[in-house]
Amino acid sequence: LLCVLCFATLLPAASPCPPPCRCSPDGLEVNCGGLGLSTLPPLQQLPPGSRSLLLANNKLSTLGTSALANLSFLEELDLSNNYLDNLPGGLFRDMSNLTRLTLHNNSLTSTDRELFQVFAHIPQHRDTLDLSLNGLSSVPLGLLDELQSLRWLSLAGNRLHALERPAFEPLVNLQHLELGQNPWECDCNLRDFKHWIEWLLYRGGKVDAVECTLPKDLRGRDIRTVPVEMFNYCLQLEDENVGGEGSRSGQGPPCNASHSNAGGEGTSECVRARYRPVSVRRAIGTVVIAGVVCGIVCIMMVAAAAYGCIYASLMAKYQRELKKRQPLMGDGEAEGEDREEKQISSVA
Ligand SMILES: *[C@@H]1O[C@H](CO)[C@@H](O)[C@H](O)[C@H]1NC(C)=O
Ligand SMILES: *[C@@H]1O[C@H](CO)[C@@H](O)[C@H](O)[C@H]1NC(C)=O
Ligand SMILES: *[C@@H]1O[C@H](CO)[C@@H](O)[C@H](O)[C@H]1NC(C)=O
Ligand SMILES: *[C@@H]1O[C@H](CO)[C@@H](O)[C@H](O)[C@H]1NC(C)=O
Repeated sequence: LLCVLCFATLLPAASPCPPPCRCSPDGLEVNCGGLGLSTLPPLQQLPPGSRSLLLANNKLSTLGTSALANLSFLEELDLSNNYLDNLPGGLFRDMSNLTRLTLHNNSLTSTDRELFQVFAHIPQHRDTLDLSLNGLSSVPLGLLDELQSLRWLSLAGNRLHALERPAFEPLVNLQHLELGQNPWECDCNLRDFKHWIEWLLYRGGKVDAVECTLPKDLRGRDIRTVPVEMFNYCLQLEDENVGGEGSRSGQGPPCNASHSNAGGEGTSECVRARYRPVSVRRAIGTVVIAGVVCGIVCIMMVAAAAYGCIYASLMAKYQRELKKRQPLMGDGEAEGEDREEKQISSVA
């Protein structure tokens, strides 16, 4: 009888664990890590209340769209140190309770825009998303749009050289961002994102190093220590681009005709863009050159005037000296002038 009782108490804990994984006695943690798996274990055998599933250090390279279906109870999923290179957009769709997703050290080169929409709309969640050590070269617009509850994000160790600020603006609750070990190019493409980083820091967030690899003179510098003045030339470039487009199409940038008499901010922007002179920059250049030329002419005139004054005063001095030496010679003026000329030429 005793043995039947103990068998009955052991059974519920022992039964549902997908082989070859190891489940914690309470069934909350399922550890399938480091088992060399190239396919998923039978996940429909997971203990129904389990919270965390570890699949790290395996050889998983692909996952089907419904591979993680019906796992809404999971809160943590660790897929780090695998060979995943392409995740289908709906992969995490059913995982509505997921707060911690680790994809560290895989081979992701791009991500589907819908991939992380699973984190949606649960504001009290403190979500973390680890995409470090992959091959991501961009973060597409829309990828992070639903991640309002994300607190911690790592993009370290990828191939990112620029990021677009609008892609990160939805992350209103982000507290910690890792961006290290990426080949950042600290040029105009990163200027707006630098401003966003400053905004994040102002909100009390943390960002690790964003070291520039390009341009050469900024190599090794953290973009946060690069003064914003270094990016002023970007505004000039933008102006030039607007001018260039305008001159190419024969008019301003595309303005919506249906808005043109509606008034408001959009319209004034539009009108201003349309009537902006094509080459303001060239006009300014002309003014500068004209100024320089005028300045040179002025300096030459001042020099000539000074020379004239000195010449005149020298002449006056000689005249006075001549008059002192020969005060009584009334008809000697012509002779005196002759002598003066000789003296001046000898001085010269
Ligand atoms: C998920 O659950 C539904 C309904 O319970 C079932 O029809 C489906 O086969 C399950 N999918 C997987 C992959 O287990
Ligand atoms: C998701 O989490 C909430 C709160 O922890 C819990 O009440 C709910 O049962 C969970 N959903 C599933 C499907 O386990
Ligand atoms: C990344 O994963 C590979 C394959 O699983 C492993 O050999 C390597 O040690 C891992 N690297 C790091 C830094 O974890
Ligand atoms: C202009 O605005 C209308 C209505 O807002 C919109 O349907 C149309 O696509 C817009 N056209 C362009 C060229 O943006």
